[in-house]
Amino acid sequence: MTFRVLVLNGPNLNMLGTREPDLYGRETLADIEKSCAARAKVLALEIEFRQSNAEGEIVQWIQGARDSFDGIILNAGAYTHTSIAILDALNLSDVPVIEVHLSNIFQREPFRQESFVSRAAEGVICGFGGHGYQLALEAMAQLLSAGETA
Ligand code: DQA
Repeated sequence: MTFRVLVLNGPNLNMLGTREPDLYGRETLADIEKSCAARAKVLALEIEFRQSNAEGEIVQWIQGARDSFDGIILNAGAYTHTSIAILDALNLSDVPVIEVHLSNIFQREPFRQESFVSRAAEGVICGFGGHGYQLALEAMAQLLSAGETA
């Protein structure tokens, strides 16, 4: 069985590469998408990679995931720290969620140390830059195949 995973990216992540490179690195979101596609192939996952700056669009994508995907990997950007709407959508999605951040949010400003997304996530990967997405894909592959044999 091939599992389908939705990889979602929130606001300002389309600017990676030029956005505060000391914090977020020089990789672009397209670079991250490319390395995710390669990793997904090895893990036999099918992925769809999306980015939006709009909270409502992210909510709609999460709602839709229920019928079309087996898991969600989410870097909600700043909405991580503000969006009860995204949390509510994750709670109704009925699929496992892994939260990713490029930076280590726990070393940063106090307002970034709170995450609504975490309340709905199986786990959080942060502080490893773009490589965190690959770690999340590995964790998701393991989660989904463990669920299949359980
Ligand atoms: C981020 C951390 C958030 O606090 C910030 O608003 C982002 C990026 C990260 O990947 O480190 O946009 O989610």
